[in-house]
This record gives sequence, C-alpha cells and structure tokens, in this order.
Amino acid sequence: MSTLHLGQVISFDGSPFDLGPDAAWYERRGAILVEDSQILSVDRADALRAAHPSAEIVDHGDRLILPGFVDAHAHYPQTAIIASWGKRLIDWLNHYTFPEEMRFGDPAHAEEIAARYLDLLLAHGTTSVCTFCTIHPASVEAIFAAAEARGMRIFAGKTCMDRDTAPEGLRDTAQSAYDDSRALLQRWHGKGRAGYVITPRFSPTSTPEQLEALGALWAEHPGCLMQTHLSEQTDEIAWVKSLYPEARDYLDTYEAHGLLGAGGLYGHAIHLEPRERDRLKEARGALVHCPTSNTFIGSGLFDMGGLTKEGQIVGLATDTGGGSSFSMLRTMAAAYEVAQLRHRPLHPSELLWLATQGSAGALRADHRIGNLAPGMEADFTVLDLASTPAIAQRAARAGDIWEALFPTIMMGDDRAIVATYVAGRQAYPAA
Ligand code: GUN
Ligand code: ZN
Repeated sequence: MSTLHLGQVISFDGSPFDLGPDAAWYERRGAILVEDSQILSVDRADALRAAHPSAEIVDHGDRLILPGFVDAHAHYPQTAIIASWGKRLIDWLNHYTFPEEMRFGDPAHAEEIAARYLDLLLAHGTTSVCTFCTIHPASVEAIFAAAEARGMRIFAGKTCMDRDTAPEGLRDTAQSAYDDSRALLQRWHGKGRAGYVITPRFSPTSTPEQLEALGALWAEHPGCLMQTHLSEQTDEIAWVKSLYPEARDYLDTYEAHGLLGAGGLYGHAIHLEPRERDRLKEARGALVHCPTSNTFIGSGLFDMGGLTKEGQIVGLATDTGGGSSFSMLRTMAAAYEVAQLRHRPLHPSELLWLATQGSAGALRADHRIGNLAPGMEADFTVLDLASTPAIAQRAARAGDIWEALFPTIMMGDDRAIVATYVAGRQAYPAA
C-alpha cells in the first residue's frame, strides 16, 4: 500500500553552502510517495497522482513537507533541567547537570525521561537525534528501547567519566567504560534503527587511560560514531591544558588516544586553534554547532562561515539541556543570529540544510535520513508556515518560498509542527 502526501515540498540535491539556494528543489504543489517505511518518489503532485492512481491520498494543503529534523548533539538526561539559571559551563555541570544525571541509575527514572524526551522531539518535528546518556547502562537501554517503540532512527551511547573531576557516584573506570560500552554496542548497534555512539564526555572528566580504552574500542568498531565535546569555553580549554600538559591543544587530547577520525562528532568547537582546524578537516571529523547552548551558557560564537568555507563537516544541534530549546526551528534562529554576529548572514536554505542533511551527514546517515528523495527513509514533518498571527502576517508578504519559510525559522516553535511521520507512520500527533 502506498500513500501520496501532497503539499509544498523542499528537498536538496546538494549543499547550499556549495551551490547556493539552487541546491534546493521546491514545488509549490508537490508530493512524496511513501511505501511502507520508504520514500519511493518526490515530484509534482499531478505527475505522481497520474502515475499512482491507486495510492491513498493525504493532502496537507499548502503546508510544507520537510525531512524530519536531525539533532546532532543532545543530552536526553538533561531534559528536566533545561533552562536552569545563571551558571557558566563548569559550574552549570556541577550545580545542575551532575546531580540530575545521578538519578539515571534508577531505570524507572531513565525510562520516564527517555519517553518524555522522545515525545517532545516528535512534537518539535525532530525524528532523529544523537544523544549522550549518563554513565549508567540503564540510561542507554532506556533511550534505545523508547526509540525502538517509536520506530525512530537514533544514535546514543553511554557517557564515560572516570576522573575525580566528576563527582563520586558518577564515575566509571577505564576498564568498566570499555566493557559496558562494548556490551551496549554489541546489543544495540545496528538493531533496527539504533546506532551505538562511543561517548567519552570530554577530556576533563576522563583519564588518559580511559580515552585510550575508548579509542581502542572505536578502532575495533569503526562503523560506530564517537561523540564528545571540544573547545566550548575558554575556562574549559585552560582546564584541559592543566590536566594534559603534554597535549599540543585540546583536540590533541583526543587525537593522541585514537579519538580523532571520520565518524567523530565534536560538540561546540568554538575556540579552535589553526592546527585543530587543519586536523579536523584532514581527519573528516564533524563539528556540531549548538547555538542556543552557546548563547545560553555564554560560550562564544561558532565560526559557521569560515568553517564551512574551508570544507569542514558541520552539523546543527540543540545540546539540550545546555541548549534552551528542543526545537530545531529555534536552533536555526539562534544559528542565524550567531552567524550575524560574525557578519555571515546564513540563507534560509543553509539553515534548513544544516538542520536536516547537514546534521545527517555529520552522523554519516545522510543516505538514509535528512532529505526527501527516492530510497530515503520516510521520516518527515509537516510545517504550518502561518502558525501564529505574527508569523502569518509576515509570511503573507513573501515573494518566494525562502521568504515564506524564514519567519517560521526565526519566530516558529512547536506550534508550527502540524504532524511528524516516522518511517512512513504518523508519530505526532498521536493517532
Ligand atoms: N561539556 C561536557 N559536558 C557537557 C554537557 O553536558 N553540556 C555542555 N553544554 N557541555 C559539556
Ligand atoms: Zn553536549
């Protein structure tokens, strides 16, 4: 049984950072043909209706059908402490984050928050996420099980911390981090739509022995992603220097332990040295921009213009709960504002690409998710481009699709999400 979803449709033939807005294909009266969990074709509505007269029709009117958003860096265990006031990174971790993460030793708490988090994502039009868990294997089980129940393509891993910079009660060891990560990887990686991500939290909370053990695990499983944090705040960089006096720079603490490479995801990456940029580019590591977090925690201004121009792999992410929103629309708006402060106005096509194909590419899954094209998995969201009176009156003046979309990017939130489909099935609102 196939279904034709009719509406306005945008898809990408390439990156607008390379090709400009023409990288996007747009059809005012477009359609996507979905069979089971896959997209079979994307075309003008009249062409697909004529070619598939027996397909069931779901007409979304003049709403915009987009790929489901892909959030390339988040901390699902921080769901309940989002929007906690007044701290900078290290204080914020100690004061809010670590006490909350301690609670995830209780599987019931992990299950409750995992379910709440994924339901929030779907309500915000996000269909895939790459998330940190806590040091507790139960926190990893909970998020993979909750994603499996919802059919979502998800990436997650056990957060590893074995240094006494992390609090008692939230520490593993180099050996237990390796053993637990390996057992979870063997249980979940490639099971349905799950991908295991090797997850040293960041250099300050790991010993060199732990980084080395996780580097070895990654070398044994190069098909897995590896996620961590890099150069988010200047105090953090100074801290890394003091803990790793022999390292050339922050990135070198990962590089020296087998944690730099393709499939590596480096969250924040704001205050980079030239050597770090060169090595990230050569090694094909991906930089994940978390703009609402970077303004909320006061971290700094990511160099989107410079980094994309030099050919780095870049994704976009909420970084909840350091980030102040679950919404990739709010995240695109923040990315626009941060780039404006660096005098590089990102085009709506660039923002949309970052939140879909760009993030999917950082996760090495852009052949499966983050675009509307034949053969892709049918994860998509339906957007109302007039979801509030303020947005509606601005969009009414639009001369083209980008002008029509930009007010929703800048002013929109979950009210703009009409429906979210996962693997071809409506996941939000609940049927
Ligand atoms: N660096 C290490 N851990 C974290 C975290 O949980 N959030 C953010 N924003 N930065 C980090
Ligand atoms: Zn993070």
